[in-house]
Amino acid sequence: MTKTLIAPSVLAADFANLQRDIEMVNNSAADWFHIDIMDGVFVPNISFGMPVLDAITKHAKKTIDVHLMIVDPDRYIKTFADLGANNLTVHYEACTHLHRTLQAIKAEGMKAGVAINPHTNIDLLEDTINNIDLVCLMSVNPGFGGQSFIENTYAKIKRLKDLINRKGANTLIEIDGGVTDKNAKQLAEAGADVLVAGNFVFRSDNPTKTIEDLRQLLA
Ligand code: DX5
Ligand code: ZN
Repeated sequence: MTKTLIAPSVLAADFANLQRDIEMVNNSAADWFHIDIMDGVFVPNISFGMPVLDAITKHAKKTIDVHLMIVDPDRYIKTFADLGANNLTVHYEACTHLHRTLQAIKAEGMKAGVAINPHTNIDLLEDTINNIDLVCLMSVNPGFGGQSFIENTYAKIKRLKDLINRKGANTLIEIDGGVTDKNAKQLAEAGADVLVAGNFVFRSDNPTKTIEDLRQLLA
């Protein structure tokens, strides 16, 4: 099994102390910064936008993994590339021309990700999986941090893993929502390559130690 990556979700950081929290991740055992962008249309919540991402990337020293929960994401692909995103993930449910969107993301030099909601079937990725660098399986309904993990995610990881193997694709599986020390190991064993964790990390007493403990759990 290859190393499971840990991606703290900045949505759960203390925005009044954003630089402190970014430095905490820089100096921790975490691998990526997970950045949730919400537009209040695709999801019933608004998070933050370009100026905040700009502030984050000025300090962040690890991979910037941007998760767009917005309608018509094509409008902003170049903007996110210019802001320093390394991975740009769009929602399957928000893209009328997903194949074109994936090409446009790659043309800007970023890894192309596709997120799918809990109700969206894995089979819908059959014809695009070879063009996808990362599939983000939503293990909660997108829009908010701190929700409970949906157990059906394990079955979806298995079906996605089967699809990736069958198609000979080189796609990472990322799990987003409700990840804790209670499910992290089982998710990794089921085939997850990247675990996003928001509240579990940032709302703990000692986030650095929480990340380190997760790392040990996954070793
Ligand atoms: C939910 C976001 C998640 C969220 C995860 O819409 O996509 O990335 O920040 O937060 P936790 O880990 O608290 O469920
Ligand atoms: Zn996310």
